[in-house]
Amino acid sequence: MPALGLPSKDVFKRFTMESIGNVFFNMDFDLLNPANTSTKLSFGACFDETSAAAARLISPSALLYALSDLCPHPLGQVVSYLYWSGSEQRFFLAKCAELRSYASDIICTSRMDPLLGTRRDLLALFMNARQEDGSPLDDELLVDMVISFALAGRDTTASLLTWTAFLLTQNPHVQTLLRGEVKVVAQLGQARPTYKDVDKMPYLRGVLWEVLRLRPVVPLDSKTAVQADVLPDGTYVPSNARVLFFPFGVGLDQERWGEDVQEMRPERWTGKPLPSSYDFPVFQAGPRICLGMNMALFEAGVMLATLMQHFELTLAGSSEEVRYDRSGGVMGVEGGLLVKATPLAVVERDVSRLGGA
Ligand code: HEM
Repeated sequence: MPALGLPSKDVFKRFTMESIGNVFFNMDFDLLNPANTSTKLSFGACFDETSAAAARLISPSALLYALSDLCPHPLGQVVSYLYWSGSEQRFFLAKCAELRSYASDIICTSRMDPLLGTRRDLLALFMNARQEDGSPLDDELLVDMVISFALAGRDTTASLLTWTAFLLTQNPHVQTLLRGEVKVVAQLGQARPTYKDVDKMPYLRGVLWEVLRLRPVVPLDSKTAVQADVLPDGTYVPSNARVLFFPFGVGLDQERWGEDVQEMRPERWTGKPLPSSYDFPVFQAGPRICLGMNMALFEAGVMLATLMQHFELTLAGSSEEVRYDRSGGVMGVEGGLLVKATPLAVVERDVSRLGGA
């Protein structure tokens, strides 16, 4: 059957990085163009290498290093020096420096843009801002900002899309219902779905929240108490205590979601308001709630509607081989997900042939 092999993890990462470039940095990385071999591609590759290097640093020697703070002077400094002289540690530091250099390039490009003063993207807003003494923000801070947004926004939304693709391949009836909604709202095959279209698709919204319930992008999170506190249930939290919370567990709580807790049922979310973010903290809650939540849902919604408009998704391989990637804070699919995207025209032609046989 003619179909496209779509390694969705990679495609989705390129898409989310491209979106960040467009929305936050007014930049076109051209990452979805297979012919693009420019260094812009390497920014994303460098992210992957740095994250992998950071994950490798989580080892028993890291515990020793963490304890070096408690050692008396100069023992602590010696332990710290020895730790950072290791080859994995030096590799990690070199990757961090490379990442900062990519981010600096983005800032330099913006600085040379004659339209910078009139631009409204996030980077321009930061670059045009002035501190109380009239001075601009320093470059180190701008570099931190570029890296933070790319870090916070790329793998998270890519993971949401990857698990959405997987769960849709396992629930073809959901794909059919979703396509029906897209067909009505975005006029299948004619217009590209827009922000306004996605806003009019309650079932699509239900699909995304149901995926966030079953495969929360950040399955486990924590907060450290800056001062002693008491939780609403009366639990005392001493100062400096780290409190973990577990969105993965919240999403699979049978008492809350019912007997069919493991099933993908987007209808759970339609026709009612969303639960409070404290009750369902997949984007965290309170003053430090994810700043990119709406952007993520919009991006994922547009990508999903567009995919449904043109393709039927099936899994290339066995679902038994699809495992959680536990190496980082974001829960991806180990080794990526290979999905077959068959153009709808081909699906419809094959169905009508079967019908005539
Ligand atoms: C499905 C996609 C996403 C999920 C599930 C998600 C989830 C989260 C979570 C759980 C946190 C809190 C982390 C913590 O402090 O413990 C967070 C913070 C943050 N997110 Fe997202 N995120 C997503 C997409 C995005 C996007 C697209 C952006 C923007 C590019 C973004 C920007 C941020 C920022 C800037 C913070 C830090 C907020 C602060 O500390 O004040 N996120 N996100």
